[in-house]
Amino acid sequence: MSLTVFDRLEPYRKALETERAAGRTVGLVPTMGALHAGHVSLIHRAALDCDVVAVTIFVNPLQFAPGEDLTTYPRDPEGDRAQISEAGATYLLAPPMREMFAEPPLTSVTVGRIGESLEGASRPGHFTGVATIVAKLFAVSGACRAYFGEKDYQQLAVIRRMVADLGLPVDVVGCPTVRDADGLALSSRNAYLSPDERAAAPTLYQALLAGGDAIGAGQRDPGSIRAAMAEVVAREPKFTLDYAEVTAADLTPIDTVAGEVRLLIAARIGTARLIDNLGAHA
Ligand code: PAF
Repeated sequence: MSLTVFDRLEPYRKALETERAAGRTVGLVPTMGALHAGHVSLIHRAALDCDVVAVTIFVNPLQFAPGEDLTTYPRDPEGDRAQISEAGATYLLAPPMREMFAEPPLTSVTVGRIGESLEGASRPGHFTGVATIVAKLFAVSGACRAYFGEKDYQQLAVIRRMVADLGLPVDVVGCPTVRDADGLALSSRNAYLSPDERAAAPTLYQALLAGGDAIGAGQRDPGSIRAAMAEVVAREPKFTLDYAEVTAADLTPIDTVAGEVRLLIAARIGTARLIDNLGAHA
């Protein structure tokens, strides 16, 4: 099926309404473009589960703080379109800023506690920007299943909670992180890495593995697990650690490691700030 591209919200909304009226299910893959194999895996999964797949591309200024990489964020509209079409999507919504917001929005969606720690603490306002734009994308897309990568684990938790709290007609599906062969999680921001930085970047995944190994070896003290992860990052001078954390699977803080937990890490390397996470079981 060929790809129909919209830059206006209303024809896109109507196209998806027509699909649902004909009894077809809609899979939605929201993105900020600069697609990689992680995004493509979301489109493939949506195409397996749903009758039609809609992808959105919008580099959302609301989720970038002043001084962050909004202006330099990688953009590749031609390449994106080719990958989206090849992956089997039916619709692409790629609205310009003036179509998404004729004027700066006065409304925002804030998902409290879950969005305040970790990325929320390092990037104040980030998750309000994410939740606000995702709520708008859900509003114009209508009832659907929406696919997000576990690479942005906290984002996934924020979006799930927003959908539950607001009763939105969206089934949120989390999909596994896609990694390069050396363990580096795929991210559009990997494009910022120089060859030397790229060679050092899997350190982040190795730190998560070290945290997982510590749990596997019987360590139950979150402080010791944090230290095990931080030690791996400290061995690579190109990295500056932002945080290395272990939480419950639902991101609540823990005093002792028990059951399903999540290891989460964020660090700077060159001009890039990378994040990653891994599940572990005690
Ligand atoms: O994960 C992303 O690419 C973005 O945060 C999202 C969900 C498309 C919202 O802008």
